[in-house]
Amino acid sequence: MNPASDRDELTRGLFWPVVSVLGLGALILLAALGLYASQTGLSSAAAHFLALDSTHIWWYFTRAAGIMGYMLLWLSVVLGFAVSTKILDPFLDRPFTYDFHEHLSLLSLGFIVFHALVLMFDPYEPLSLLQILVPFTSSYRPFWVGLGVIGLYLTVLVTVTFYLRNWISMRVFRSIHYLSVVAYLGSLLHGWFAGSDTSLPFMQSLYVGTSLASIFLLTYWLVGLWQGRRRAVQR
Ligand code: HEM
Repeated sequence: MNPASDRDELTRGLFWPVVSVLGLGALILLAALGLYASQTGLSSAAAHFLALDSTHIWWYFTRAAGIMGYMLLWLSVVLGFAVSTKILDPFLDRPFTYDFHEHLSLLSLGFIVFHALVLMFDPYEPLSLLQILVPFTSSYRPFWVGLGVIGLYLTVLVTVTFYLRNWISMRVFRSIHYLSVVAYLGSLLHGWFAGSDTSLPFMQSLYVGTSLASIFLLTYWLVGLWQGRRRAVQR
């Protein structure tokens, strides 16, 4: 049995059912929008459907994207540790874990860029492009937002090196990769201290739960590294 070909077969089998469900959903949405627009006009129908007339809409977008970006970045870091420590090898085949880790990093970047850009349109406290690009210049909680900007740059650097693997040495690749832990830590502090949802028990549990899992994996990885070095010295 080849797990890779099983996975390909599963993906092919799921393709048309997923496309059909999405297509049906889109058709229903368009029909409802058309019906509503025939009574109220297209622009007010669109505003109603997407809540574009709400002053909070950009704030909702940025918070949702920030939380998604954080979760995906965390998952990517966790899977990176899983690849190095082989901790998930009994459950998942390693090339899959590695690919997933790489793609999650890219996906998290998409959400984080969206999270940052949307802030330019927030009527409550709009940020300029310069404030988004230059760390610690934001008018809102400059230090904590600055950590997010640094987290973004480090995530870009780490993600780009996935695609430069053939051109750089393994040592450089690894050294840059370790920066993802700094990016994660920065984004954790950023989310906790800049976010407006931190007072919610749900968000606190999310930050604490993800941090504890990361600390566990980091410790496991460091112990493995130390044992490996000790064995090499004894030989
Ligand atoms: C690794 C990169 C980043 C991650 C993972 C991230 C994630 C988050 C999270 C989880 C929150 C809390 C949301 C909430 O409490 O509802 C947040 C808030 C915030 N982030 Fe980021 N962020 C990142 C980069 C940035 C960048 C580049 C900027 C641009 C200046 C930025 C600006 C903000 C602001 C202003 C808030 C407060 C929004 C609010 O909740 O009112 N973030 N971010």
